[in-house]
Amino acid sequence: MLTSQQIREKYLNFFQAKQHAIIASSSLVPENDPSLLFINSGMSPLIPYLMGERHPNGNRLANSQKCCRTEDINEVGDNRHNTFFEMLGNWSLGDYYKKEQLDWWYELLIEEFKIDPSRLYQTIYLGDEKLKIERDSESINTLINIFGKYSVEANIGPDTDGKGEIGPGREIDFQNERIFAYRDKNWWQRGDAIGELGGPDSETFYDTKKNHDKKFGEFCHVNCDCGRFIEIGNSVFMQYQKTANGWTELPNKNVDFGGGLERISMVVQGKNNVFETDLFINTLTKIEELSDKKYIDYQREFEIISDHLKSAVFIIGDERGIVPTNTDQGYIVRRLIRRAIRFARNLEIKKDSWIALVAEIIINDYNNIYAELSKNKNKIIDEFNKEEAKFKTTLEKGIIEYKKIKSQDSKIISGTEAFNLYQTYGFPLEMTEELAMEDGLTLNIEEFEEELKKHQILSRTSSEAKFKGGLADTNIETAKLHTATHLMLSALKQVLGNHIEQKGSNITGERLRFDFSHPEKLTPEQLIKIESIVNRAINAKAQINVVELSVEDAKEQGAIGVFELKYDEKVKVYTIESEKEVFSKEICGGPHANNTEDLGHFKIVKEESSSAGVRRIKAILKNTLDTQK
Ligand code: ALA
Repeated sequence: MLTSQQIREKYLNFFQAKQHAIIASSSLVPENDPSLLFINSGMSPLIPYLMGERHPNGNRLANSQKCCRTEDINEVGDNRHNTFFEMLGNWSLGDYYKKEQLDWWYELLIEEFKIDPSRLYQTIYLGDEKLKIERDSESINTLINIFGKYSVEANIGPDTDGKGEIGPGREIDFQNERIFAYRDKNWWQRGDAIGELGGPDSETFYDTKKNHDKKFGEFCHVNCDCGRFIEIGNSVFMQYQKTANGWTELPNKNVDFGGGLERISMVVQGKNNVFETDLFINTLTKIEELSDKKYIDYQREFEIISDHLKSAVFIIGDERGIVPTNTDQGYIVRRLIRRAIRFARNLEIKKDSWIALVAEIIINDYNNIYAELSKNKNKIIDEFNKEEAKFKTTLEKGIIEYKKIKSQDSKIISGTEAFNLYQTYGFPLEMTEELAMEDGLTLNIEEFEEELKKHQILSRTSSEAKFKGGLADTNIETAKLHTATHLMLSALKQVLGNHIEQKGSNITGERLRFDFSHPEKLTPEQLIKIESIVNRAINAKAQINVVELSVEDAKEQGAIGVFELKYDEKVKVYTIESEKEVFSKEICGGPHANNTEDLGHFKIVKEESSSAGVRRIKAILKNTLDTQK
């Protein structure tokens, strides 16, 4: 049986043999992309290149990318969803297209992974008259040939129009019908903002031969949620970009393929569930040992705990690690850890600091693939222990408050009371529910949800304001602020010392936000110095030049940047320089302004603490005309 490590390796070797450069996984924490909390697909870090910018490693790329999709949190436990997963990805940047992609992917599945071709099904894009995009007959013809080669009957099943995710209202003959056209379901785009890339896609499904569950609809279909069919890969033919007037063609026709390693391993290893693969087995065994209970008897709890703690290990242990807090990404880690601990209550684990013991197993499992985990091991263990202790205190305080409510005469816990426990004490609703049930009280969940909705509308309004402006609209402003960020990092090092390291960067069209390691608050004098160093570089009318170098050469030339790239990669080095002086030299993907004179005037608007040992600066660029006014 192939191990998941062998599957990952085989995938990368296969595409390397097809002239693909193997690139490292990007950090889980997006850089300069305020529209995303975590990297959720292999294509996200490659957007500039899919839009036509040259990639330093060529126009055929492949990797295994760390991904986090916490929007799937409630799906965990259904046999195929995880909040953290690895996406195996390959890309053609205006090079090969549909035929090669589908031919190679099936060759890999059947010849290398030894998957039975009669278990494979494929969906394709139905076309859309309104968008003036045609039915994907090129993919259909390619697929008919592929299945024909393996003597597998491959007729085209009924089309599914509109938003149908389940399929046509008739029984499918799964012996003969293998290719299905969908409209909305086979159009891929990451988000809705202007500037997002998209295109028709073609998804591959594996038949587990599980019985259909009619709870999910009368007839089963490849897109049915009953769990019989599992999607193991998606070839996106990324050819369009969203503008204010609809979709327009990109300069290149690209391929963006992604397949989840967990699911592919499940299929290749002949398991019924992603958690039964070797990607989870050691964690489950550890939880069995800690709880003295069996996975098979507490499947849901074991799966949630092992999924959530793995996500938390990868987020905290990332190159740009995020620790538990009450806002943004920090809140997500906190929620993952606390939800894992909450589900563990049913397992009655007695030991203190047990989640860190699970973390050690996860770190060890991925040791030779993601070196950042063992490098950041102490930090992960420390944060896990702190969070476990904090949550314990929260629960204890919450239980005291809950008892106060309980001691009142009423047999009902109102939604407002439950919301108050949740909002003020961080006490999870599910805990209130559990306790109320034990005590024979009724809980008004509807009222709780109303309160929550009111609160969410308020916070959404503020985060929408924070993220306003789509990607393309703000491209030029974003590029200028990005160049200013490079200048500022260089100024920070000059003023504060060489210990300064970038911890995070987030740029909208309006402002830059930059996190860096530094133990104390900056003084007003230091801030003025930093501003004036940046403004001096702006006034010097410095050019922004880019060269492509190997990581070794970039390091040798003193470029700042993340050097933990795992493969023999080339990188872009951006230098901001006038004839007399180099202001900054940094490894980066772009985009940038052409000349610093376009930046106007640099101003720091806020300096504050971000987390322990990390400071945060927000700064803006003022148009020089404004300043003169
Ligand atoms: N970007 C594509 C996906 O996430 C491959 O499905």
